[in-house]
Amino acid sequence: MHCFRKVTDDLYWVGGNDRRIELFENIFPLSDGVSYNSYLLLDEKTVLIDSADYAVGRQFLENVKAALDGRSLDYLIVNHMEPDHCAMIDELVLRYPDMQIIGNAKTFPMISQFFDFDLEGKKVIVKEGDTFSTGKHTLHFVMAPMVHWPEVMMTYDETDKILFCADAFGTFKALNGNIFNDEVDFDRDWLDEARRYYTNIVGKYGMQVQSVLKKAAGLDIQMLCPLHGPIWRTDLDYIIGKYDKWSRYEPEEKGVMIAYASMYGNTENMAEILANLLAEEGVKNICMHNISKTHVSELIADSFKYSHIVLAAPTYNNGIYPLMDNYLEDMKALALKNRTIAVLGNGSWAPQSTKLISTKISEMKDMSLMVANVTIKSSVKDEQMEELKSLARQIAEEVL
Ligand code: FEO
Repeated sequence: MHCFRKVTDDLYWVGGNDRRIELFENIFPLSDGVSYNSYLLLDEKTVLIDSADYAVGRQFLENVKAALDGRSLDYLIVNHMEPDHCAMIDELVLRYPDMQIIGNAKTFPMISQFFDFDLEGKKVIVKEGDTFSTGKHTLHFVMAPMVHWPEVMMTYDETDKILFCADAFGTFKALNGNIFNDEVDFDRDWLDEARRYYTNIVGKYGMQVQSVLKKAAGLDIQMLCPLHGPIWRTDLDYIIGKYDKWSRYEPEEKGVMIAYASMYGNTENMAEILANLLAEEGVKNICMHNISKTHVSELIADSFKYSHIVLAAPTYNNGIYPLMDNYLEDMKALALKNRTIAVLGNGSWAPQSTKLISTKISEMKDMSLMVANVTIKSSVKDEQMEELKSLARQIAEEVL
């Protein structure tokens, strides 16, 4: 049975929710699923804006058919060609053979890469600033390369002042019937997943996000319709402000994230002692992660959130503990910068981790590595307590 919602008088949400999915992109754990948003505009022409993942394909097709209410589908706008949004294109072509596809010059080669149907006579190629009238509505296309693939564009409805913003302003988590931001407590229930989505999926492309935000600032936007998560129809400055901060790689909060790896509890003990010392210095905003039990996507999200990061790990095979190494590589790949980092290392016969982690951090752009660090051999001894106290004092001075 169809299951869609009205967004405005002539716009419908016709997407679907996937709560069976374990891993987004087969990498990122999803405990609360994800939504694939698709929008149908019913004007003199009927226009579908993006499709959906195959996992919700049947529901999506039923929704489109029901919302069309006997009309045919004239156009499909393809803002993004990643399969979580484009997978149903060939099914739409089969059902609506007269449908034309609106995309940019980079969209159509990707359609031919993913699908085998004949595009002849179906292509409407648009470029930056082009407009397209559907009757009452005028649509205007805004290129958004690398947010988050090169072919990405956004579609702005000049009539209703709605920006169909592709992956931007999206988030993990399935929609629970409430599809609008003012129907949910976003800050309480969605922000952490929105941050994890942004930082891991789009985090590398901060410069390109900044460029799109500048273009968006020139538009009168009353509603943001992303491809994942709630539609924004109030308080747009809130989510735009978050994107601005994340894409500038500015921390959201002054605070300390302690990410530790520990094989037998001794490095963990050092991390716990530092956390207590920070608390005694008056630091209240402390977040701790045992990286062996926390998915790296959560570590990345909190690395974007906090101003100060403490990395603690033992030496392993004369190198960096593998899970810490993986986290550091992700941090580098996602271009995190502007953080202050302190390192705690351990090793029973040849402790190398402090030096090796510090070297990796110093190879990243615009990271501030604290001179003070602490290295233990097997376990914390009295003589290291002063070093830990001194490090805690220095971090606290910066954070408070
Ligand atoms: Fe939700 Fe880049 O796809």
